[in-house]
Amino acid sequence: MKLVLTLAVLFYFMATGLAKAAPGKALVAYFSWGGNTRGIAELIHEQTGGDIFEIVPAKPYSGNYNTVLDEALRDQRAQARPALKDQVQNMAQYDVIYIGYPNWWASIPMPIATFLESYDFSGKTIVPFCSHGGGRLGQSVAAIAKLSPNVKILEGLSVHYTGGSSLKSDITAWLKKIGQAR
Ligand SMILES: Cc1cc2nc3c(=O)[nH]c(=O)nc-3n(C[C@H](O)[C@H](O)[C@H](O)COP(=O)(O)O)c2cc1C
Repeated sequence: MKLVLTLAVLFYFMATGLAKAAPGKALVAYFSWGGNTRGIAELIHEQTGGDIFEIVPAKPYSGNYNTVLDEALRDQRAQARPALKDQVQNMAQYDVIYIGYPNWWASIPMPIATFLESYDFSGKTIVPFCSHGGGRLGQSVAAIAKLSPNVKILEGLSVHYTGGSSLKSDITAWLKKIGQAR
């Protein structure tokens, strides 16, 4: 009996200790126009587990590069909130939300603003990541912080275009650095 009790106490402390050490349930939510951010999101999801969700504007942006440059600038100047196609079911189940996007005009694409305003993230952890053509995260983290009160924002990851062959190990190192490795 004594042994059973001792083992039970031991297992309890092991389980609660592990629970504290492991990061909470993750959602990787991303918007991608050309596919680069999607590739990064998929690799992050592979390493964090949890769920993955694509943020899709109800009205798609043009597939033409020059046209989307104009559309994105127009949206940003107007601080537009483009409607989204789908909603995340039961956001309450997630503790850590990775938010991915291409750097658009040095900040977040406006569908990300719509996404951030669609849910109550209070008490959750937000982890930004972006694909860029040289501007890294730009002003995007400040924009996210402004739209997401009462959240903890961890150090973001910026990836040059697709990230190349070191992307997987770069993600592993980054997750370790921010305390989110599994
Ligand atoms: C509308 C638009 C605006 C962009 N603005 C910037 C920018 O300000 N700085 C930058 O480094 N890259 C900029 N880029 C390049 C993208 O961030 C880059 O190509 C990225 O890899 C695209 O990711 P995606 O394939 O997921 O859409 C811009 C691209 C587009 C289409």
